[in-house]
Amino acid sequence: MSKYSRKSLAVLVSGYGSNMQSIVDSTKDGLLKGLAEVVLVVSSNSNAYAIERAKNEHIKAICVESKKFKNEKKFTDVILDELQNADVDLICLAGYMSKIGVEIIRKYDGRILNIHPALLPKFGGKGMYGRYVHEAVIKSGDTKSGATVHFVDENYDTGRIILQQEVNIFSNDSPRDVAKKVMIIECKIYPKAIKKVIEEDLKKVHLF
Ligand code: GRF
Repeated sequence: MSKYSRKSLAVLVSGYGSNMQSIVDSTKDGLLKGLAEVVLVVSSNSNAYAIERAKNEHIKAICVESKKFKNEKKFTDVILDELQNADVDLICLAGYMSKIGVEIIRKYDGRILNIHPALLPKFGGKGMYGRYVHEAVIKSGDTKSGATVHFVDENYDTGRIILQQEVNIFSNDSPRDVAKKVMIIECKIYPKAIKKVIEEDLKKVHLF
């Protein structure tokens, strides 16, 4: 990452785009103002409302759907090309439901972030997404859940944790109730986590 310029972010989405919007908002008038800008939005789903949100913000938004490609490699290559053409510093997965190719993970090692709607390492891994996470949390009897921003490695939800925040769960909460509370937290901590990563990177650069 370059030392002084604003960091260029790509946000990868598949759905409603609440997290993407919170990141964009914070670059305009919040924690990330002057530190970062969203230069590219990649959606794995052509119906994602996140695409419309990106367009409203005048951010380049493209749709790359895995089903349109003969194999995983071709799908990954197209995304990789877009990321490189946009000269992206950090990649933020924000409700991205496709598998991210290993070539991308290796190329952007330590520069891919994901948000997970639970307190990792609990309730993570393959199949743990959306309401399945909240159902499992309620079933476990835990009185706390929350959100985690972590680096992406080659396994599901196992990369180094950057930031977490808790929410309380009450005995009569439904999965939907928990999802709502967690989403509020997600939109707060994602920009904070991005700021933390950028600042840690700046400190590292200052050592040389
Ligand atoms: C969030 O709960 C996120 O943690 C999960 O998918 C959801 C995305 O929602 N991975 P949105 O598209 O940001 O509204």
